[in-house]
Amino acid sequence: MEFPFEALVETEAETIEIANKFADDISPGNSILLIGNLGAGKTFFIKTVCSCLGIDDIKSPTFAIVHQHKGKLPVNHFDFYRIKKVEELYDIGFDEYLSDDSSINFIEWADLFPDAVQKISFKIFIDLVDSDKRKIKIEKYE
Ligand SMILES: Nc1ncnc2c1ncn2[C@@H]1O[C@H](COP(=O)(O)OP(=O)(O)O)[C@@H](O)[C@H]1O
Ligand SMILES: [Mg+2]
Repeated sequence: MEFPFEALVETEAETIEIANKFADDISPGNSILLIGNLGAGKTFFIKTVCSCLGIDDIKSPTFAIVHQHKGKLPVNHFDFYRIKKVEELYDIGFDEYLSDDSSINFIEWADLFPDAVQKISFKIFIDLVDSDKRKIKIEKYE
C-alpha cells in the first residue's frame, strides 16, 4: 500500500481488506501506533493484521498493559488506556520491548504518552466519523 494512506470505510470487511494489505508492509522491529477513541476499531485492526501472522488470540490488553504473542513473528500488543503514570511503562520495560528488532509492537492509545514512544514506524489513526463510517489514516515514518 502507498503511504500516507487514507480511506473511509463503512463495513468491517473494508477494514479487514485494508489491514490485510497493511500486513504486507510491516517488518520485524516495527513499532505501530494506533490512535482513536474507544470503539474506533484499534483492537479490531490489530487482530486482523495479527491473523496474517498466524496469531488468533488478540484481545484488548487494557488491564495487562501488554500481551505477548508468538506467531510468524513475535508480537507485543500494548494498550496505554489504563496507564496513569509513565512510570508504569518503565516498570514493564517498555523501552526494551521497543528496542528489540525481532518483534512487532502495536501500541493502542499511543497518544496518551507520546514522549514514552521512542520508536515510530507507522501511525494509524481511526476516527468514527458517523455511527458506522470510519476514517482510517496510516502514516509511515522512516
Ligand atoms: N468498519 C469497521 N472497522 C472496525 N471495527 C468495526 C467496523 N464496524 C464495526 N466495527 C466494530 O467496532 C468495534 C471496535 O472495537 P475495538 O476494535 O475493540 O475498538 P478500540 O480498540 O478502538 O477501542 C468492534 O466490535 C468491531 O466489530
Ligand atoms: Mg482496543
